Amino acid sequence: MNVLVVGRGGREHAIVMQLKKSERIENIFVAPGNGGMEQHATCVEINEMDIDALINFAKENAVDFTVVGPENPLNAGIANRFTKEGLAIFAPTEEAALLEGSKSFAKDFMEKYQIPTASYQTFTEAEAAKRYIEEQGAPIVIKADGLAEGKGVVVAETKEDAIQAIDDMMVEKRFASAGSTIVIEEFLAGVEFSLMAFVNGHQVYPMTPARDHKRAYDNDEGPNTGGMGAFAPVPDITDDIIAYATKEILQKAADGLVAEGRSFTGILYAGLMQTAEGPKVIEFNTRFGDPETQVVLPLLENELIQVMEDVVAGNDPKLKWKKEACLGVVLASTGYPGTYNKEVPLPAVEDTEDCFVIQAGTKQTNEGIVSNGGRVLLVGSVGKDLQKASEAVYEYLKAYDANEAFFYRKDIGKSSL
Ligand code: AMP
Ligand code: GLY
Repeated sequence: MNVLVVGRGGREHAIVMQLKKSERIENIFVAPGNGGMEQHATCVEINEMDIDALINFAKENAVDFTVVGPENPLNAGIANRFTKEGLAIFAPTEEAALLEGSKSFAKDFMEKYQIPTASYQTFTEAEAAKRYIEEQGAPIVIKADGLAEGKGVVVAETKEDAIQAIDDMMVEKRFASAGSTIVIEEFLAGVEFSLMAFVNGHQVYPMTPARDHKRAYDNDEGPNTGGMGAFAPVPDITDDIIAYATKEILQKAADGLVAEGRSFTGILYAGLMQTAEGPKVIEFNTRFGDPETQVVLPLLENELIQVMEDVVAGNDPKLKWKKEACLGVVLASTGYPGTYNKEVPLPAVEDTEDCFVIQAGTKQTNEGIVSNGGRVLLVGSVGKDLQKASEAVYEYLKAYDANEAFFYRKDIGKSSL
C-alpha cells in the first residue's frame, strides 16, 4: 500500500510513526512534511492547500489511501475533491468540516441537537456585541467565528478585556473575515480534556481521553499557544464521564450531522470542560488534535491504517488501548508564541529506549537538524504510569537546559501525578 499524509507538524509526524508499524504499507508520502520526518517517510514539496497538485500526486504515485492532518484543506473541500476523483481519503467533507470551520454553525448545531455546551449569542455588529457584554458581565468568552489558527478565542476576565477583544476582531479585523462574525459565550468553570473519535456516519469509536496544556508557561500562565504538552489517559476523567460524553456529545453530533445531510467521516475531536454539571463542549475540531495525537496514538494497539479502513468500510475496528500512560512535552523556541530565532542546532533528537521524539518545527541542513518554528519538537514516553513517563521525558529534556534558545514547561501532567 502507498499512503499519503497531508500536513507538516508534530501531529502528522505522529501519524506517520503509527502508519510505519504496518508491514503492508510500502510507501508513506507526506506533503509537505518537515525535516524530522525525512528519515521515516518521503516528503513531497506540495503545500497542503494545493489540492489539484495533491490529487495529481496521488494518481501518479498510486496512492491507495490519504490521511489529512490540518483543518484548512478540509474546509477547502479536499475530501470532496479526492472522493470525486475516486481516491480513498480519511477526512470529512467540506460540509461536515464546517463544525470546526464556523463556531456559529457549531453552536447553532449543538443547540438544535441538545449537545451540552456554554450558552451563547452570535453577533455581526460590534455595538450590539458590546451591549451584550454590559448585560452579561465578566468573565465571558469571545470567539471569532472562522478559522484563526487557534488564536481567535479570548477568555475575558473583565468587561474591558471583552470590549477590547470585540474591537480587535470586529473593528481592527485582526482575523480578517474570520472575525466579522463573533460568538460570545458563557464562561465554563472546570477542568478540560479532549476526546477524539473515529467516526463514519452514525458509527462512533472513541479514543482514550487526553489533556492538552495550552498556556505557554508553568501553572497555566502566559499566552495561549498551539499546545505545550499533553498526556493520556486522564486519571480524573472516569469511564462514566467518557461514556456520558460519547453518548451525549460525540454520538449526538455524528447523528445530527447525518440528519443535516453533512454525514461525517474522519476524526471528530471534542474539546470538553468537565463542569459541575458534567462535560460540556468548548469546541469541536474535525481532525486529530495537536499535541493530543502525539500522546494518544502511541497507546493504540491496533494498526492505524486498519482502523481507518474498517471505519470507512462500516466495520467495527475493535479499538484496543495499552494499559499504560503516555506523556509528551513540547520544546519551544524562546519567544514563542511571539517572535523567536530559527536555525538553532538541536542537541538531542534521537529516540531512546524510553523516549520518542516527534518533530514539528525542524529543518534538515548539512550541519544536522536545526530549529525552524515555534514549537520545535515533542519528547514523549510511554510508561507503566504517568509518573514513569514523566520522569523519562524530563530526564531527556535536560539535554536542553543549558540552551537559552529553547524552553519547555516543567509541569506537564503534574496535577495528575
Ligand atoms: P478553543 O480555541 O475554542 O479551544 O479555546 C481556547 C481555550 O479557551 C480553551 O482551551 C479553553 O481553555 C478556553 N475556553 C474556550 N471557551 C471557553 C468557555 N466557554 N469557558 C471557559 N474557557 C473557555
Ligand atoms: N489541541 C487542540 C487542537 O488541536 O486544536
